[in-house]
Amino acid sequence: MQKALSVSVLGQPARKMLSKTFSALREVGVVVSREGMQLPVCRHLSKACNPSDLSSPDLVAISLSFMALEPSLIWRHRGGPIVGASEGFQYGHANAVIIGPEGLEERSDVSIGVSLLAPNIRYPDHTHPPEETYLVMSNGAFSNASTPWIEPGIGGTFHNAPGVVHTMRSGDVPLMAFWVLWNGGKATGL
Ligand SMILES: [Fe+2]
Repeated sequence: MQKALSVSVLGQPARKMLSKTFSALREVGVVVSREGMQLPVCRHLSKACNPSDLSSPDLVAISLSFMALEPSLIWRHRGGPIVGASEGFQYGHANAVIIGPEGLEERSDVSIGVSLLAPNIRYPDHTHPPEETYLVMSNGAFSNASTPWIEPGIGGTFHNAPGVVHTMRSGDVPLMAFWVLWNGGKATGL
């Protein structure tokens, strides 16, 4: 993942954040074995994360690793306010933590997880203190308070400064994106 991100991340803030993140990850947290739990929206996973749709070897490797650990992930609906969300959001999305609180590697300084949106779903406007970089695995659009809607494309990235209001939306195909949060040792939300 670090390699794929380093290819596509252009902005200095994102580079700085990811450098701190992956340096912290060299020290492994508490590895936990979990029984995964899917939600109905996960039926879109095979389309949203399909190695045969990916041209970059790094992205193919990420998608294969992800599909291998996916049975251990616990998919959840987002709690809290749903300002700006589209109709159908509640059952048209799911998030899972891979590294971080309640993830497969428990730690509080870094979180890495994944969000999945069914087609034509807009995620709520939301904000959180940790800085965030998304790695996009299928087509969809992202925006924040200082960046109008853009489509990073498969393998593209999107960076959110700490505390900025941001969101994402899918088009005619499901959207899947990994997110990396640099918590600086604090707890986080998505
Ligand atoms: Fe976020």
